Amino acid sequence: MRPVELKKNIYWVGAVDFDIRNFHHYSRAPEGSTYNCYLVRDEKTVLFDTVDAHGYSEMVKHISEITDPESIDYIVCNHLEPDHSGALPRIVRLCKPEKIFCSAMGLKSMTNLYDTTGWPIEVVKDGARLNIGKRNITFLETRMLHWPDSMVSYLEEDRVLISNDAFGQNIASSYRFADECDRSLLLSSMKRYYYNIVLPYSPQVIKTLKRVQDLGIAIDVIAPDHGLIFRTPEDVKFVIDSYAEFAAQKPKLRAVIAYESMWNGTAKMASAVADGLEAEGVPYVLINLQQSHCSDVMAELADSGALILGSATRNNMPMVNMMACIAHVKGLRPQNLVGAAFGTYGWSGEAPKMMAEALAEMKAEVVGEPLKCYFNPKAEDLAKCRELGAQVARALREKCQG
Ligand code: FEO
Repeated sequence: MRPVELKKNIYWVGAVDFDIRNFHHYSRAPEGSTYNCYLVRDEKTVLFDTVDAHGYSEMVKHISEITDPESIDYIVCNHLEPDHSGALPRIVRLCKPEKIFCSAMGLKSMTNLYDTTGWPIEVVKDGARLNIGKRNITFLETRMLHWPDSMVSYLEEDRVLISNDAFGQNIASSYRFADECDRSLLLSSMKRYYYNIVLPYSPQVIKTLKRVQDLGIAIDVIAPDHGLIFRTPEDVKFVIDSYAEFAAQKPKLRAVIAYESMWNGTAKMASAVADGLEAEGVPYVLINLQQSHCSDVMAELADSGALILGSATRNNMPMVNMMACIAHVKGLRPQNLVGAAFGTYGWSGEAPKMMAEALAEMKAEVVGEPLKCYFNPKAEDLAKCRELGAQVARALREKCQG
């Protein structure tokens, strides 16, 4: 891997992580990830963000191919989550920067994550400008997109937006640019990333996109801190439009059936619910939570408007993978869903009702009564499952048309 020049004297100097699959310990990253950081050479040499601690050597190797790391004058920390700041203490020790810039909330994160004694930290306000020679940088706070400390850096003369986590995707690749990558992989990675990380902050996304539009900021390049960089007018438009679409969360005519079975009875019910959807012409995906991760459910919700949950009852509640799934999905606050719940039981059978309540708490339009089936589903039980699937399909179609 080599450093890559995005524009004259603006370089990608990050680290590519081909191994990672468990991103931030809550979301799958089937394609790996990258920690992007950017070096700008001007009268001042500036490093924008750093990398995860284990990417330090790769980052320093890349910087060293361009300049002596000790020549770095400024470090800009757009966001302090450790995947962007883990290497900060070592690079500060190595290059002894003249200044380290961050937001006011960034200062809190930095000083509580690291021993910053003696660090030349300078807090920048929203809209602050910094001259580094021929170039001017504007800092724009993007609070809660996705941390309180988050901001982006705009290189005015080059029209480059270093966007930190926003517009990221988890793709490890020898490519650095979106236009070099398979389109469907790019889009599915963008969706997985957005729906598992950014989704609860969709109101901030809408606000930020509007602000950028109102400011009339011209953007040639969007350089996120994860994944591929958008450098063509088509791709810049593509990623901005995609974010607007993700944030809007309009209902889509497709259903996710996520289920967890103990002795295969709930699996049979799931299959019958799917038949009911199919009979009404609604596509679906079946996700067995004993084989798939809860972040897969969120990735599929990017293309779906219904979430149907199925679980056997165990110890008076849904099974553990379903409980984890509910916690994950609920925290990400998906909007505009149609929902339903089902499952088998042997004693008390609380799970379907509890799942329906969880869906209602997510403000989903819950269709039908929670459907429970004693032990192994019989023909009449499976007929009820098919009818539940059909009911969801009809409600979803109506929602999509409304
Ligand atoms: Fe990529 Fe919020 O860290």
